[in-house]
Formats: sequence, structure tokens, C-alpha cells
Amino acid sequence: MNKTENIIFDRINFWTKELIKLWRNNQFTSYNLSERDYRDISESVKELSNGLIGDRALIGKKYLADFSTLGAYLLYYWPVSYAQTRKILFDNQIKGQNALDLGAGPGPCSIALLDHGFKHVTSYEKIRNSALILKKLSGLTKGNVILKEADLEKNSKAVEGKYDLIIMGHFINELWSSNENKINLRSEFIQNLLNNLRKDGKICIIEPALTKTSRDLIKLRNYLIKSNITVVSPCINKGVCKIINENENTTCHSEFNWKINPVISKISRMAGIKKDKLKFSYLLLQKNAHFTLPDHYLVVSDKLISKSGKARFFVCGKEGRVSISLNKKNMENGNNIFLKLKRGDKIKIIDPEITENGFSIKKESSIIKI
Ligand SMILES: C[S@@+](CC[C@H](N)C(=O)[O-])C[C@H]1O[C@@H](n2cnc3c(N)ncnc32)[C@H](O)[C@@H]1O
Repeated sequence: MNKTENIIFDRINFWTKELIKLWRNNQFTSYNLSERDYRDISESVKELSNGLIGDRALIGKKYLADFSTLGAYLLYYWPVSYAQTRKILFDNQIKGQNALDLGAGPGPCSIALLDHGFKHVTSYEKIRNSALILKKLSGLTKGNVILKEADLEKNSKAVEGKYDLIIMGHFINELWSSNENKINLRSEFIQNLLNNLRKDGKICIIEPALTKTSRDLIKLRNYLIKSNITVVSPCINKGVCKIINENENTTCHSEFNWKINPVISKISRMAGIKKDKLKFSYLLLQKNAHFTLPDHYLVVSDKLISKSGKARFFVCGKEGRVSISLNKKNMENGNNIFLKLKRGDKIKIIDPEITENGFSIKKESSIIKI
């Protein structure tokens, strides 16, 4: 377990206790959840995640209307969003003073920013009760939260001020969700926000790792890069991502190891959801960022094994997403690390054979993990 994972784990342990306390409001008796609490919360997590994955019936409604859905949000989704935000902040070495959190809800991204050293976070949210939870939690940090109540779909230019970072956690998919022109509208929304960035400021959009939301994020990305907006991370390819032209199931997301908090672990187990990895899609964007195209590749798929035993991954490089494969008969000391690769690894591929769709690893090829 690395240092970053330990920090995130420790902070989530801290926040989980506070969230249990807050969830129980004035009837607080213990930091532990009863078996009945776990049952109610995991049932709600199942329902909410079906709503999110399935017909998206819950999108835009008040998630926090009843006690067990509030428990599901606070004790399951909240810590996950918190962990995702901190992971991005750590991995991209993002620092700053002032941040903006749009669609902040009860504030996992805002609190992650404050824990990360941001001094002031301005949080826009259309549901006041959600924002009030954030306000209470922010009292336990060293920073300051400024709450703004606004419907950013109806009033998309409501945002004021200049920031080092603008974050949107699981929010952009709720904007214009039933409008057939939604990607265009979201793109205009993001382009307007460029006026709210300080010099070298960045925009971070986090979305669920679901096929639909991830594909919409890639479509948005492809719109934005036409307006001199650079995808700083995670894509190695800075041009158009062509995977969107493939079939409707083709998409891309990030996946990281995390040390799972015991409460989340138990809820996810009871809800029948696999949560051993932190999975999400994200974009870190900057206007006219300077970059040099790297010559390494980012592994963007799990390992795929064909019937003949050929192992294959998809990797993202400066030319876009390509395939890299290894036939059993070509396995040698220099390349057998290939079989142990996992999504998120950065690699250099030395002396491969060029194929129609990417690369094939020869006996004399080697893979270097960086
Ligand atoms: C799925 S929640 C995400 C909350 C939090 N950012 C997170 O990562 O867990 C989406 C939030 O966006 C808010 N939201 C949706 N549409 C909005 C709009 N038009 N204006 C402002 N907030 C909105 C919702 O009320 C909700 O709190």
C-alpha cells in the first residue's frame, strides 16, 4: 500500500465517523452501524445504483429525500467521490488556494479539496439541504466553504470568481440529460467556465465508469479539444479519441488500487457490488496547455485472452488507442512482464512488430514499466 492510498484511507476513516454522526443527526449513539443500518443502506445503494446504471430515473431527483437513501449517499457514494478526487489531486500534483465545486451535493469533492490544502472552496448546488451538510462538515477542516445556491442548467452563467481549480464530481451527466443536444450544451458550459480560471487553472470532470457516462465524457472531450482545450490527464493522446466511433459498448475509464474502508466494504458486499478497485472516468483540462507528446503508453483495458492463448491489452499512446498483443510462443524474459500488466500502468514498448491495429510483441521485444 503506498503513501497516497494510506492518506486517503485514514481520512475516509475519519470522515466516515463524522458522516455516521451526521446521518444520525441528534440521535447519535455510536460510531458503529447496526446490522439493520447495513441492510437498509445496502438496499438503498442497490436501488440507487440501479437508478444510475439503468433508466437513470433517479438522476435529477432529490437523492437525499429519505433516511436510508441519505445513509447510502453519505456512507457509500460520498467517500467514493472523496477518494476519487484526492486520487486525481495526488496523481496530478494539483495545488492551489481557491477552488470551485459545481454540483457539490453534500460536498465530498469540496472536502477533499480542503483536506488537500485548498483554503477556499466555493460550492454551487441547487439543493439547499445537500449544501447544508457540506457546510457542517467543512467546520471540521482548516479551510472555508462558500455556499452558492443555483440551478446551473437554467442559469449556466451564474458562476462568479476566478479559481485555480474547478471540479465537477458526477455532475456533468445531470446537465441537459434528456436534451439531444446535451454534449454541445455541456461543451459550451465548460468553455464559459474557462473565464473563471486563474492563470494555469484547470478543470476536472469526474464521472462514473459506466459505459454511457464514460462515452458521453469522451464525446465531450472530443468537442472541447477543438477549442484549444488540452486534456492534461489521463489521455496520452491529445487529439480526437476515435474509440467513440466503435460499437456502443466501447469506452475507457481509469482504475486504481485503494485501501477500502470497512464500512464501504461491507455495504458494497451486501449490495452485491464489486468495489475492490476505485473506478471512474475523468478529464483534467487546461486552456492552451504546453505539452510534449510522450513516447510511452497507458494501459487502458484489462487483459484479454483469446481462445488461442494470445494475450492482448489496449493502450493509449500519442496516436490514440491501439492494441498490443503477445503470443505464448514469443514469451521471453524481456517481455513476460506483459502478462502482469494492469489498467493504469505506464509502459514503454521496445522493438515491437507493427501490426494493423497496433503492436505485436516479438521474442526480442521488451516492455518497460515506468
Ligand atoms: C450525483 S450528485 C454528485 C455530488 C458530488 N459532487 C459527488 O461527487 O458525490 C450530483 C449533484 O449535482 C446537483 N445538480 C444537478 N443538477 C444541477 C444543476 N442544474 N444545478 C446545480 N446543481 C445541480 C445535484 O443536486 C446533486 O447534488
